[in-house]
Amino acid sequence: MEHVPTRLCWGAGTAAYQIEGGWQADGKGASIWDTFTHEGGRVFGEQNGDEACRSYELWDEDLKCIQTLGLTHYRLSLSWARLLPDGNTRHVNQKGVEYYNKVIDDLLACNVSPMVTLYHFDLPQALQDQGGWKSAGTATLFDSYAKFCFHTFGDRVKLWITINEPYVCAKLGHEDGIHAPGLKEPGTAAYLVGHNMLRAHAMAWHSYDSLYRAQQEGAVSLAINSDWLEPLNAGCTEDIAATERLLAFTLGWFAWPVFVTGDYPEVMRSAIDAQSEKSGCSSRLPSFSKDEPAILGTADFFALNYYTSRKMKQGGGCGEKLCMKSDRDAGEVLDPSWLICGVSWLAVVPQGLRKLLKYIKNNFNNPAVYVTENGFSQVGPLQTEDVQRAEFYKDTIAEVAKALQEDGVNVRGYFAWSLLDNFEWADGFSVRFGLFHVDFADAKRKRTLYRSGREYAKIISKNRCGQS
Ligand code: GAL
Repeated sequence: MEHVPTRLCWGAGTAAYQIEGGWQADGKGASIWDTFTHEGGRVFGEQNGDEACRSYELWDEDLKCIQTLGLTHYRLSLSWARLLPDGNTRHVNQKGVEYYNKVIDDLLACNVSPMVTLYHFDLPQALQDQGGWKSAGTATLFDSYAKFCFHTFGDRVKLWITINEPYVCAKLGHEDGIHAPGLKEPGTAAYLVGHNMLRAHAMAWHSYDSLYRAQQEGAVSLAINSDWLEPLNAGCTEDIAATERLLAFTLGWFAWPVFVTGDYPEVMRSAIDAQSEKSGCSSRLPSFSKDEPAILGTADFFALNYYTSRKMKQGGGCGEKLCMKSDRDAGEVLDPSWLICGVSWLAVVPQGLRKLLKYIKNNFNNPAVYVTENGFSQVGPLQTEDVQRAEFYKDTIAEVAKALQEDGVNVRGYFAWSLLDNFEWADGFSVRFGLFHVDFADAKRKRTLYRSGREYAKIISKNRCGQS
């Protein structure tokens, strides 16, 4: 792609638990990821984020990386437990406030705009002890935390993400048990958690809208992850139906209520209800209360995290058991032509992003879209000259350009995942998503630019001219 004739934002992302370290520094409270990793038996090599990239001490090094790439935007997340160690606003950790103030001020001084995520998987443990996201009250506490952040940082932060990937928090954390808090309560907890996350998001959006928007003039959304899905056999009715169902249970689960109807997709509700009836239990998908802030319309833009694609066919449940797999009744297949050479779930399908962007334009009222995460990992021996990943960024950004120029999708920005190699959740440090390699054996956590980072910097420098 030679030139994207528009003022796109060019960013890279990170998340607090994945990079900061300093898990107990200066009065930070514990989060569910601290507990989960310390329990043992959960993460590759028993690794944890106690130190990670040490960004809490080495922020200046991160800033240099951001400048080397020439980013116009940097997406970071705030650690709720670093700011509010007990999860509530009764006790504010001033050192945490100072840390994020410095990060934000330094970015702005370098002409880089922050995009700030309030919640990226790391609930304060104190709130997990009170029921976590299964508890309705967590949404209210999230709203207070969000207001605290808008009040404290919103004079300088204009792009906010409330919750990152509610799907992943709900399913991996509460159905599969492979992410914190490690609950395995198939077929029930994930729907409740997703529901409370949507309520929390909506409350925070309304708080911003009524209390801060007029003065701060920012925009607020939630980051929704989705694969691109298409039927294995384009002419097969069952495969088409399976595709629609899985799209409803992933992208639609969170986008439909926010962008289309204020409620869950009908396909999702009827599938869950049918399974519930078979097992003689009442519906497991909660309903939104009319007495609470409306969910519909609570996103000022569409924030999309895209990594991969799948072909779909009917089936793939978990037998008679109640579980999300049985509710969805959709099996995923990998096209043999797709390259997989990093982490096993990530088939490289750049054109899937273009298709997904077009789908979002057509199904969610042509919103402004930021691709808030997209990337490709490296596993095994270190390769700093990572030619395949460099090609991946070129190819994927070319697809984004086509979505913008040929399909008329209202794309506003592209954020690579990730600025740095970091703690990749259950995979620990074995999976590297960074544009910069981080040497985790070195106390100074030396950061080294990959070839893919050089390629991304080249794309940015070709296209950032005309940037306001
Ligand atoms: C996303 C997540 C990121 C990162 C990425 C790569 O689900 O938001 O934190 O880990 O996946 O797997």
